[in-house]
Amino acid sequence: MYLVSEERLNKMKQILKTRQDTLRVFMDYVYSPHNLSAIVRTCDAVNVGKLYYRHQKKVKLNNEITMGAHKWIFHEYVDDIEKFYKNIKSQGYQVVVTLLDEDTVDFREVDYTKPTLIVLGNEVDGASETSIKYADKKVIIPMYGMSQSLNVSVANAVILYEAQRQRANKGMYDKPQLPPEIIEKTLKKWAYDDIIEKELKRARHKPHWLSSSLHAFFASCFCISILGICFFTTFEEQATKNKTIKIHKKFFNIYFLFFNIFSLFLTLSLSFSKNSSKVKFCCNILE
Ligand SMILES: C[S@@+](CC[C@H](N)C(=O)[O-])C[C@H]1O[C@@H](n2cnc3c(N)ncnc32)[C@H](O)[C@@H]1O
Repeated sequence: MYLVSEERLNKMKQILKTRQDTLRVFMDYVYSPHNLSAIVRTCDAVNVGKLYYRHQKKVKLNNEITMGAHKWIFHEYVDDIEKFYKNIKSQGYQVVVTLLDEDTVDFREVDYTKPTLIVLGNEVDGASETSIKYADKKVIIPMYGMSQSLNVSVANAVILYEAQRQRANKGMYDKPQLPPEIIEKTLKKWAYDDIIEKELKRARHKPHWLSSSLHAFFASCFCISILGICFFTTFEEQATKNKTIKIHKKFFNIYFLFFNIFSLFLTLSLSFSKNSSKVKFCCNILE
């Protein structure tokens, strides 16, 4: 069972059927949130198979950085770069490092229809020594103006769209590259598990209007009755020996005391039962 509209489900299926599993990107210490966001979105647009990343500072790919595009891209943090390169090469991938160097070829000379890992370098230092060591191809995007380099996300877009052109010409977007069981598993995640998780998260943060209103009502009752007790205690000090006033005062004191205990009890019980009732409410919606 899926929890999305048929139209959205078809879109998800289409993405997975055209996913270029054998075209991958590695962000080698790219750190600017703006660049990360732009790179992830282009990878999503070209439908690359996987995005690898590592950072000097702790940066996690999240919604604020990628505007949600990372949800649709398989991504993985690289801990051990040597191990990573050995592993990807053993799977038959060519490593194409983007560089501003003499010892490079024009990026259009590479055959991107082969299993390819494109490596993008850091905004200041470029690609790491290790990436250069494992490069099968070092590519450059020709520069004819005053600037020495492109923004890294722009370089990524230029190269990915060349890869997309070559792959589309070869009909590589016409037949699925992902195994059917991975397509099924991913569909279940996107169209069921992630939706449940999102709704539960929302429910935990956003109280149901009825629960909030009752909570506010009983909390105000509690405050009013406290004020009532204070008022009648002050009144007692100034009370005359008049019998009627004394009877009224006693009656109101007892009334406010009960009202106080009752509203305090309801406020506390609503607070404690808040989370579980919200989760139940949200599960009902999904059923
Ligand atoms: C701003 S550049 C880094 C400049 C750095 N000073 C250097 O010498 O590599 C950031 C990254 O964008 C990519 N890049 C930018 N312009 C490029 C170009 N003309 N050709 C190839 N890659 C480029 C490379 O991945 C580079 O590591």
